Amino acid sequence: MHASDVADDLVEVLFTEEQIQARVAELALEIERDYEDKDLVLVGVLRGAVMIMADLARALNKHVEMDWMAVSSYGSGTKSSGVVRILKDLDADIAGRHVLIVDEIIDTGLTLSWLTSNLGSRGPASVEIATLLRKPEALQMPVKPRYVGWDIPNEFVVGYGLDYRERYRNMRDIGTLAPAVYS
Ligand code: PRP
Repeated sequence: MHASDVADDLVEVLFTEEQIQARVAELALEIERDYEDKDLVLVGVLRGAVMIMADLARALNKHVEMDWMAVSSYGSGTKSSGVVRILKDLDADIAGRHVLIVDEIIDTGLTLSWLTSNLGSRGPASVEIATLLRKPEALQMPVKPRYVGWDIPNEFVVGYGLDYRERYRNMRDIGTLAPAVYS
């Protein structure tokens, strides 16, 4: 689905499919350079990271292992509850290996701050983060991603994995959702 298919639901298109693919290719080049000759495990955070994981992994011209975690943030209601639970753990043993967590957005930072420390306790050689989007104004936890596609304002964005009530994840572009849709 394209942004033009749901144009009435969007305030604007922030990043087109072409812009996203070009930025992902740039990030892949940086990652290839930084992890040359290193054994790399990509850890995608379900479900939003499916698109970036698929595109980033294919843009990398080296062997990588792809693994997945599902966590439930904000299980007891609001983001500020700070509760993170593992719904699906890694299949891989990451001890001694280089881990790159792949996600599509850092919002409050709660999910990735928790995940970084959780994976860090398993004895990996390193743990870094690649995120397509980051909302600096929303950040509440200290998270320092090594790779960031773009910083964006604190607005409700959908597409390329990002949902509103499970919709818009399959939109190829990223756009700002019109308040009328969610209010
Ligand atoms: C999104 C996103 C990040 C997290 C970021 O996942 O994929 O993992 O929120 O938010 P935070 O920085 O405030 O923790 P979400 O919990 O919406 O689940 P989903 O990927 O299944 O949509």
